[in-house]
This record gives sequence, C-alpha cells and structure tokens, in this order.
Amino acid sequence: MKITVIGTGYVGLVTGTCLAETGYHVCCLDVDPNKISILKQGGIPIFEPGLEDMVRRNVAAGRLSFTTDIAESVAFGEVQFIAVGTPPDEDGSADLQYVLAAARNIGRHMTDYKVIVDKSTVPVGTADLVKAAVAETLAERGEALEFSVVSNPEFLKEGAAIDDFMRPDRVVIGVDDERAAAMMRRLYAPFQRNHERVLLMDVRSAELTKYAANAMLATRISFMNELANLAESLGADIEQVRLGMGSDPRIGYHFLYPGVGYGGSCFPKDVKALVQTAKENGHELRVLTAVEEANDCQKLRLVDKVLARFGQDLSGRRFAMWGLAFKPNTDDMREAPSRVIAAELSRRGAEVVAFDPVATHEAQRVMGDISGLSFAGDMMAALRQADALLIVTEWKMFRAPDLNAVKQALKQPLVFDGRNMYDPAWMREQGFDYFAIGR
Ligand code: NAD
Ligand code: UDX
Repeated sequence: MKITVIGTGYVGLVTGTCLAETGYHVCCLDVDPNKISILKQGGIPIFEPGLEDMVRRNVAAGRLSFTTDIAESVAFGEVQFIAVGTPPDEDGSADLQYVLAAARNIGRHMTDYKVIVDKSTVPVGTADLVKAAVAETLAERGEALEFSVVSNPEFLKEGAAIDDFMRPDRVVIGVDDERAAAMMRRLYAPFQRNHERVLLMDVRSAELTKYAANAMLATRISFMNELANLAESLGADIEQVRLGMGSDPRIGYHFLYPGVGYGGSCFPKDVKALVQTAKENGHELRVLTAVEEANDCQKLRLVDKVLARFGQDLSGRRFAMWGLAFKPNTDDMREAPSRVIAAELSRRGAEVVAFDPVATHEAQRVMGDISGLSFAGDMMAALRQADALLIVTEWKMFRAPDLNAVKQALKQPLVFDGRNMYDPAWMREQGFDYFAIGR
C-alpha cells in the first residue's frame, strides 16, 4: 500500500515514519521547505526520542521520502493522511484553513480513487467540509472521481510518540463506506497485538472521541491540581492522596500528577475548541470551562509561592528555572507553563536564568520578548547567585542533583518545585526550604 502524509510536523512525521517502518511506502509532504530540507539531509526538525534513527533507516530502505511537491505527493498514495495543524482561532474554535487547503490540493491533483484520512484533531463535521472541498475542486476541473473521507484521530503523546503509534491502545476509525473501511482495516492490521485494536465507528463519533479523550485527561489534571492546592491548606500530602485514589481501578494511576498546569499543543486548544463547539450547538460545558480556568490559575501557582516568600515586587531578585518544555522528552514549547511563569516573574522585575536540556533553542525563539530572561548552558550554571530554584519540567536529569552543589550555587537553599520531584522530608534534612505542589 502506498501512503501520502500531508503535514510533516509531530504527528505527520511520526505517522509517516512508523507506517514506513511497518513496510508501507510513504511520501511525506510539507509546505515548509525548511523542514523538508532538514529531513532530506538526514536530520529531523523536532526532538522526539528514537525518531531520527527510524527516519534514516526507512529513507535508506527506500520506503520513506519527503517532498514539497503537491502534485507528486497526491499522485503517490492511494491513502492520503491529512496531519496539518489545527490551531485555535480567536474565539477558541479550531482553525481549519490548513486542513481545507490540504483537501483542496488533493482535489486539484487526484486522478484516481483516494481514501482521504483526517488525522489532525478536527471538530465534528469537518469530514463533511473536507468532502465538500474535494468535491468542489474536482468539479472546477470538470472531474467526477470517487473518494472517501475517513476520520482517524491520533492519540500519540510527544516524547513517547513512536511507542504510542507502534503499540496503540486503540485505533479509532470513523468511516461511512465499506470500501474505505476495508482499506483502513488492512492498513492498521500490522498494529494489532493480542486483541483487536481497531474501533470502527461513524465519522462524527470518531471526531468527537478525540476531543472527549483529551478533555477528560485535562479534567483529571485540573481536578488533581485543585485538590493539591487544597491539600496544602489542610496539611495533607497530595502524593499520598494520589496513591490512595489511583489504587481504585475505576480511577487508575495515570494522569493524576499535580503540577504547574497542563500545556502542550493539544490539551489547551482542544479544551477550548470543545467548549466552543458546544456553544455553537447551544450547550454550555460548565465542567470544561472550569477546567480551563483552573489551569490558567495553576500556571501561576509557583509564582504565587514566590510572591508569598519575597513580596509582590521582585526587582533585584534572580531566579533559576529548570525546565522550559511543556513536559520532558520534547522540545515543544507550545502553551508551556514556563512561558507564563517566566513572563510573570519578569513583569515583577525579576531576572530569570533558565536551563532546559533540549528546548532552549525553541524557547529562545518563542520567549525572546521576555525581558530579564536568559538561558544557561547547563543546569548548575543556571543556579549561580539565584535567590531560589524553580522546577518547571520534570526532566530525568533533575531527579538526583548534587544537593550540596545546588546549595552552594544558590544565594540561599530555597526550591520551588512545580513537579514534586523530591521527598520534602529529605529536602528539609538537606537544609533546604522546599515548596512543592500539594504537600
Ligand atoms: P505541527 O505544527 O507540528 O505540524 C503541522 C505541519 O503541517 C507543519 O509542518 C506545517 O508546515 C504543515 N502544513 C500546514 N499546511 C500544510 C499543507 N497545506 N500541506 C502540507 N503541509 C502543511 O502540528 P502537530 O503537532 O503535528 O499537529 C497536527 C495535528 O495533529 C493537529 O490537529 C493536532 O491537534 C493533532 N495532534 C497533535 C498531537 C501532538 O502531540 N502534537 C497529538 C495528537 C494529535
Ligand atoms: C496529549 C495526549 O496525552 C495525547 O493522547 C494526545 O494525542 C495529544 O495530547 P501531549 O500533549 O503530548 O499528549 O502530552 P501529555 O503527556 O498528555 O501531557 C500534557 C500536559 O499535561 C503536560 O503539560 C503535562 O505536564 C501535563 N500533565 C500530564 C500533568 O500535569 N499531570 C499528569 O498527570 C499528566
């Protein structure tokens, strides 16, 4: 089977590469010549563990190629995955301009039957819009070729993207016709493990499933963050509470970690988009609106603790910040809590010296306008002469630092830990004033 993937970002590149790894021939298209040029030179434009080797291996085997040539990419695949961005519009709804541009490109160049797969996260009803866009461009050419539109939302997590794609919990396929259903079943057959992973359903249900899953996970996180804040006032330890809750199989241990709020390219925008979809359809998703509000507050939780310690005016203060990416094992800075935290500290007059093992370059690009923010080349250098250390991303390398060296580098032994990385009793024993989340 020959497959085209349109959009070579996080999802498109992982999808294309993993499909090639499975044996398919895959052509990846992007409109960004810079990305394609990096890929053609054997590099990858993002940080994702294991991906670079897999890309190289499949390019060398002749199964994976990259192009900016739309006509060539449309001609290539009988299946055309659309994996372009769907960023939030001004009102929070998903901006479909890139999805529909990709659809029109397919309509403009196709010469035979295509299965067009919406892999991007798109609101309910988008498959109909894609269908209409393709039909319209075909009509402009005076063609009446057959095609199907399928919804196949992606559930991978950045940092674990290859494993998530290669060993999916489930593959959701929304499809309205048997021809496309058979092709999609065949395409995903290599990803079945000990039991059926493919969930075939109608297109609208598949589209809604993606938002529902992300909204549920975001809700769990905001709920835990609020409980953590309450635990602090009550003298309880949220980490103990988390274990006590998670052991109930109806609750489970995953995604119960309190912290500095959820970020990334999905939860924030998908929560907003679902709230907006509901509004447009005469519903108010009260729980989800509150989830979003709680998350906005949580991003400032560490700053609140800093202010409680130092007062409202931070001029003359310097803070070290460990971690910039919205979570470990990625260089993605989209909606990262570090951006809000650094901006607020800076607004109050403080200097911030930040360190991240992989996201510094991207952070320099998106945080360049924050005055008083600079970047250190290693984690210990960031600490020098700082009034306190703030931990924002739980990179593994921060788990067991040389605490004596940390103490020596800081002006005073003071740590605000937004990711509950250390045992509070141990930190106190080591002479630190230690503030975590919910304990
Ligand atoms: P991204 O911004 O990393 O990549 C999108 C790519 O599409 C860019 O490289 C862009 O240049 C390209 N593009 C835009 N218009 C194009 C066109 N007409 N033709 C060809 N290429 C085009 O985005 P992403 O993070 O990969 O997300 C893509 C979609 O997948 C979004 O809808 C997102 O919500 C969803 N999603 C993302 C994740 C994730 O973890 N990043 C997980 C699941 C689902
Ligand atoms: C998410 C979904 O998990 C994935 O299924 C979907 O396809 C895309 O969106 P991703 O954004 O890559 O994936 O990261 P994820 O691991 O879900 O983390 C999202 C945010 O939630 C991060 O900022 C993370 O720090 C935060 N988080 C996660 C918590 O604060 N606590 C948790 O327990 C889990």
